[in-house]
Amino acid sequence: MPTALIILAAGQGTRMKSDRPKVLHQVAGAPLLAHAMAAGAALTPERTVIVAGHGADAVQAAALDLDPDIALAVQTEQLGTAHAVAQAAPELEGFRGDAVVLYGDTPFIRPETLLAMAEARSRHAVVVLGFVAADPARYGRLVMQGDTLERIVEYKDATEDERAITLCNSGVIAAESAQLFELIAEVGNTNAAGEYYLTDIVALARARGVSAGVVICDEAETLGVNSRADLAAAEAAFQARARTRALDDGITLVAPETVFFAHDTVIGRDALIEPNVIFGPGVTVESGAHIRAFCHLEGCHVSRGAVVGPYARLRPGAELSEDVRVGNFVEVKNALLAEGAKINHLSYIGDATVGERANIGAGTITCNYDGVFKHRTEIGADAFIGSNTMLVAPVSVGAGAMTASGSVITGNVPDDALALGRARQENKPGLARKLFDRLKAQKANQKRD
Ligand code: UD1
Ligand code: CA
Repeated sequence: MPTALIILAAGQGTRMKSDRPKVLHQVAGAPLLAHAMAAGAALTPERTVIVAGHGADAVQAAALDLDPDIALAVQTEQLGTAHAVAQAAPELEGFRGDAVVLYGDTPFIRPETLLAMAEARSRHAVVVLGFVAADPARYGRLVMQGDTLERIVEYKDATEDERAITLCNSGVIAAESAQLFELIAEVGNTNAAGEYYLTDIVALARARGVSAGVVICDEAETLGVNSRADLAAAEAAFQARARTRALDDGITLVAPETVFFAHDTVIGRDALIEPNVIFGPGVTVESGAHIRAFCHLEGCHVSRGAVVGPYARLRPGAELSEDVRVGNFVEVKNALLAEGAKINHLSYIGDATVGERANIGAGTITCNYDGVFKHRTEIGADAFIGSNTMLVAPVSVGAGAMTASGSVITGNVPDDALALGRARQENKPGLARKLFDRLKAQKANQKRD
């Protein structure tokens, strides 16, 4: 059965106290909206409609960035969840298949759960995702009659008996698309909130003799983000899961609780990750690589046998081949480090290619930026860059070449050449002694005054 996703993302998120729309706040380096879309991907949706409202322009831009085929609807006034879903109707005109409603601020619905809902659709026309709440608080309550869901009652409208129900509505609902919109068209707003409740479609379906049922998931999956505290809790929940998964996948985390992953971090088995390592988006670390303590990585690739850190920073476009060494206080950006290259201390290598087995001495800087343009530095295989060399790009150092330490290299260095780009040293015999004597005499005079 083809499936369409309708993701509700119109809410203001007042409690976030933010200029940014709620669904664009990030967990593990990706907007909440991206997490909701990733969950929905389990259903291989034929169409996805985002219903935006507050900050619609920013939400639309972000959504298109995530998926250029996404359809967008705008709900200018937030009149309730049924009204929000109704805004997606024009985009799904004539669509034959199921529509599944997700919330853009609920990032953790598992793929398995959505697949279970799709399966339950063979038994029920309307399937609602429920959970048993530890503290049901203000959630909508699911009123069951055996296996049949009779209706959903919102907390505000519930009787004392209904409020005692602990089976709650997560908000995720699946039904045949055309039928969903038919039911929604019948929803009114005579209730305690004066809103058009999506939840009312269950009672409307039952009144027509149409069946409704429930799939139950873990409460953790339904965690919604309404405040900064919720956002922090969502981040913590994501990280806890990512750490467990990494350990299960055969990765050594010396102190798991100090390692932070992004939504898309990929690490091979037998990699060793020391304490206090942060992975930003777009990182791949191959099997057997070793990331030492206090490193920050984003948008980079670390190959087998490479050792990084402690205290290294790998920025987007850092490509470390096998057996590369990147040591302490080294920053690498948009640079290919070929097999066996070594940059062990205090260096910045940006917009560069470093050849096989090349050795970059302490304090080397690729001066890649002239204030307007970025320029490249090419370093050949087996080159030896002396400590404290400034490589003023664009510049190349040939294979097997050497730069004297302290050099400012402004011209290309041929293969096998030694480049000296520094002032020549001159020794003045005895002059230090004379200078000291004069200064000490001066100090003695000052004390007497
Ligand atoms: C809703 C459900 C409730 C469920 C709870 C789970 C209804 C009537 N109630 O309640 O049964 O237990 O979620 O969290 O559906 N939204 C729009 N436009 C609107 C209104 C809401 O896009 O006009 C979006 C919000 O941004 C949010 C989601 O829909 O992402 C849920 O809306 P919210 O107002 O938070 O619903 P609740 O009252 O929490
Ligand atoms: Ca809510």
